[in-house]
Amino acid sequence: MTTSLKILAAAAALAVLAGCERPPVDGVQFGYRGTGMVQVYNPRTVARQQPLNVVPEALPTVPDEGPRAREIYQNVQVLGDLSAANFIRLMTAITQWVSPEQGCNYCHNPANLADDSVYTKVVARKMLQLTQNVNANWKSHVADTGVTCWTCHRGKPVPEYVWFTAPPQDLKSNFIGDKAGQNTPAKTVGYASLPFDPFTPYLRDALPIRVNGRAPLPGPEGANNRSSIQQAEHTYALMMHMSSGLGVNCTYCHNTRSISEWTSSPPTRVTAWYGIRMVRDINVNYIEPVTNVFPANRLGELGDVAKTHCATCHQGAYKPLYGNGSLLKAHPELTVPPKAAAPKAAALGRILFAVNRSELNAEGRAAIRRAAAQLTADQALKVDISGFADQTGSADKNLELARQRAVAVREALKAAGVPEARINLRKPEFVIGGTADDSRRVDIIPAT
Ligand code: HEC
Ligand code: HEC
Ligand code: HEC
Ligand code: HEC
Repeated sequence: MTTSLKILAAAAALAVLAGCERPPVDGVQFGYRGTGMVQVYNPRTVARQQPLNVVPEALPTVPDEGPRAREIYQNVQVLGDLSAANFIRLMTAITQWVSPEQGCNYCHNPANLADDSVYTKVVARKMLQLTQNVNANWKSHVADTGVTCWTCHRGKPVPEYVWFTAPPQDLKSNFIGDKAGQNTPAKTVGYASLPFDPFTPYLRDALPIRVNGRAPLPGPEGANNRSSIQQAEHTYALMMHMSSGLGVNCTYCHNTRSISEWTSSPPTRVTAWYGIRMVRDINVNYIEPVTNVFPANRLGELGDVAKTHCATCHQGAYKPLYGNGSLLKAHPELTVPPKAAAPKAAALGRILFAVNRSELNAEGRAAIRRAAAQLTADQALKVDISGFADQTGSADKNLELARQRAVAVREALKAAGVPEARINLRKPEFVIGGTADDSRRVDIIPAT
């Protein structure tokens, strides 16, 4: 290369680098030299992040004595065991964490605090359970640091970092091929040409996060190499989010000698593994069940609710609020296991039906597609399908209806390519005392 070309090449390389991050950057080495186990960070980014990660001062403690909230108030379903004084202290705190400008009335009808007609109160009750569940049952991820409403909300009613399911591509008159969610630069995946919605398959549904096949060749059930390029792209998209969400690079969790190998990965990868499962639990068992409570303008294009990913809590820090858990320590009531445990959603899908009908609606068909995708990805998986009916009206007729609904789901799964041998039809059941909409349902659950 001539000298001028070399200079040009160096200048071009610099220009490319400057597009990423301006030097100087610092690095902390945490593996043997030459293994590339280094965490690179930019001191200016860290300085900018610091003030965004402070926590408000905790309220003074009050004695946990005297009558319980349940005895004094009319409609406390989660926090009934707290003393009345502690209850009001927590109400004051959540106002500070979620709606400091709007005040108590963001969640309350001022004429009657026991009234549940303001939707935000119903959501907030579920959020109390969400927070207790994370702190009590996901110590594998959040340790004793834990979370409070502040971790996600930071003084805003709607957390800054949330996601919705991306609507399917508009194929126009089919001149454009299926982009598989790519080539639409999105901040979520660091503006890379990667699928911009890696969240629906991995942080709501539980598709395998894989690039390498586990077997050399496509094989019999269980040893199937189903890993496709599309799956790899989705995996990388999720990894881009996890890195930017935490403000770290890939080596924070991987040894680049062998990305997929667990034995040489740093322990942070295990924490992240639990994190992925925790986020699914939050989205499926706590946030989605209150979808119907939200007004339409809070929902996404597909009518889904705003959901959690890594950035919702982490907001660019390797530990949310740089590991400051002082607010939770001041509010031990948020670590109690949730009282009214959230109903366990069926693992692979729940399909609801209209009164007296056994046909699938659009939502039901979408749920079937998701379940079929999971079954295709995991060839070892078999499912039980059970139909439920409510107890109003004739029992025989209801059970027959529940059976017809289960058959409709089985046929739809078969049409989506799932072999019948992997589907067990279970005896229809009653939902005891149920008349609510979700008693007219079919659940697809992993076979026991
Ligand atoms: C972010 C939403 C939210 C804010 C803001 C909020 N609350 Fe509440 N409030 C709730 C929820 C949820 C319950 C029900 C708790 C339960 O079921 O255990 C509740 C219940 C109550 C009750 C019990 C009423 C009854 O008779 O059942 C009182 C009293 C109360 N809040 C007072 C306040 C006061 C005072 C403020 C402002 C300092 C406030 N709340 C701010 C969500 C909120
Ligand atoms: C893991 C993150 C997380 C935690 C922790 C959390 N929330 Fe939320 N919250 C969310 C998400 C996501 C939404 C949905 C955003 C939306 O409203 O569209 C939400 C919505 C809400 C809303 C509805 C706001 C609106 O205007 O639509 C209220 C009220 C609320 N949360 C209260 C609370 C309270 C009170 C706590 C603590 C007991 C809490 N949240 C803890 C993530 C969280
Ligand atoms: C915060 C931790 C974390 C960061 C940062 C991270 N990963 Fe991952 N990665 C994981 C975890 C955990 C899994 C396994 C997920 C599972 O099985 O549920 C994984 C899986 C993978 C896989 C699939 C391996 C296989 O077995 O097929 C690849 C490839 C990968 N990551 C690449 C990357 C790349 C490239 C980056 C940087 C852009 C990155 N990761 C950043 C935690 C992380
Ligand atoms: C509900 C809030 C919340 C969500 C959502 C969340 N985390 Fe965390 N995460 C935490 C807390 C709190 C800690 C600090 C635990 C501690 O102090 O050891 C943490 C710690 C971690 C750590 C360990 C950092 C270290 O240096 O030890 C990793 C890695 C991590 N999270 C990855 C993730 C990934 C990846 C996701 C998304 C799949 C995620 N987290 C989602 C709350 C959350």
